[in-house]
Amino acid sequence: MTTGKVIERTCLVVVLAAGEGTRMRSSRPKVLHVIGGRSLIAHVLGAVSSIDAQPAVVVSPGQEAVVKAVKALAPGAEFYVQCERRGTAHAVLAAKAALARGTADVVVAFADTPLITPRTIARLRGALAGGAGVAVLGFRPADPTGYGRLIVDAGGRLLAIREENEASAAERAIDLCNSGLMALAGNAALAILEQIRDDNAKREFYLTDAVAVAGAMGLAAVALETDEDEVRGVNTQAQLAEADAVLQRRLRAAAHEAGVTMVAPETVYLCSDTKLGRDVTIEPYVVFGPGVTVEDGALIRSFSHLEGAHVGRGARVGPFARLRPGANLEADVHVGNFVEVKEARIEAGAKANHLSYIGNARIGPGTNIGAGTITCNYDGFRKHLTDIGKDAFIGSNSALVAPLKIGDGAYVACGSVITSDVPADALAFGRARQAIKEGFAIRLRAVLRAGRKAP
Ligand code: UD1
Ligand code: MG
Repeated sequence: MTTGKVIERTCLVVVLAAGEGTRMRSSRPKVLHVIGGRSLIAHVLGAVSSIDAQPAVVVSPGQEAVVKAVKALAPGAEFYVQCERRGTAHAVLAAKAALARGTADVVVAFADTPLITPRTIARLRGALAGGAGVAVLGFRPADPTGYGRLIVDAGGRLLAIREENEASAAERAIDLCNSGLMALAGNAALAILEQIRDDNAKREFYLTDAVAVAGAMGLAAVALETDEDEVRGVNTQAQLAEADAVLQRRLRAAAHEAGVTMVAPETVYLCSDTKLGRDVTIEPYVVFGPGVTVEDGALIRSFSHLEGAHVGRGARVGPFARLRPGANLEADVHVGNFVEVKEARIEAGAKANHLSYIGNARIGPGTNIGAGTITCNYDGFRKHLTDIGKDAFIGSNSALVAPLKIGDGAYVACGSVITSDVPADALAFGRARQAIKEGFAIRLRAVLRAGRKAP
């Protein structure tokens, strides 16, 4: 018996990013605005890379910032410049050289429609594999104004897409709309696109005409459907926030699925790359910036802000903790209220429970950092390391002036300013010795009451 060999279909995804984004009223290019810690175009490219497709990004002239960002995200991406804005089909044809290579599937995606999932792209490609020449993703928006309408016959065949300004009253009453995501059979894509004309009100080359052209060529077109949330486009700041809200709901659902407890999930802000283990508990009002991993059983208490941080198994963070990039908390570490950690490894079981700044440091296992302890890591030019061994005890309100080494089991008296290394098991004082002047307060009050100057 022979086992069936899976033949991978090659796929080119043309990502249209040549928009101006003027309605964002922002100096930042629209597709570089961020939801869930990632730019809009990064979300689209993420979906593209998860299906192993080749991205071809179409930009308008002068979009160097977009090109630079995409190169960093997807080193294999190709770029094409659409010199004049003459419609969506014209934009796709900017990538003609890529289309001419003849991949099995061609998918067109908009860079400002970030919530598209790999699963949906796979559904469209499935329709091509099933023999369709064109597959279009439709949806039924609450308000169809402005969208192209999908014209489907009684047998379910997609006949055409009509842009709203070209549509008859009857066509406008159709509630199935074009999301913009389209797949074309690779061997026909170029021929289809090159037949599209600009004989319409806007004198633009509409990608949507690919459906009617394919029909005329005897190729079948099909419409698939998804929900509005997946195809929300971003043109304004308000729509950016709406798209983020949809993304947050997805990310929270995935976290729940992975065994995370969230007491008030709608108050927890997640990033697309946030990694949360089983039995992690997140209290209300926690913000995860990019690059955070939380291992099993850790507790993140309210009002904590984490980015670029690793939280080990069973660790406790917050309330009101700030973990900045490079914060690495090993298992069972406690980082309490108003503690800021940056570029520091806090080893197993160590504690910094109150009001501290720990930057550029290593804190050995089991060590206790007293309230108000500050690592003085910066001299105005360079950052220096504070290295504290295991089971040390740093008294409250100490300033540890780096570079500094504090040995295993050492004690630092509270209120110290420590400027030189402390050997293992030593006690270091770095503060003035207390003096007692018996009865002095009585004399002082008498002097002050008489309006004289204190001695
Ligand atoms: C398009 C569809 C419409 C669909 C809607 C979904 C066409 C003709 N119409 O309309 O059926 O319901 O999207 O949101 O395709 N772009 C370029 N170069 C151009 C023109 C557009 O790169 O010359 C890019 C835009 O930056 C944008 C995307 O293509 O990312 C869509 O263009 P847009 O002008 O928003 O098309 P709509 O009129 O919204
Ligand atoms: Mg649009």
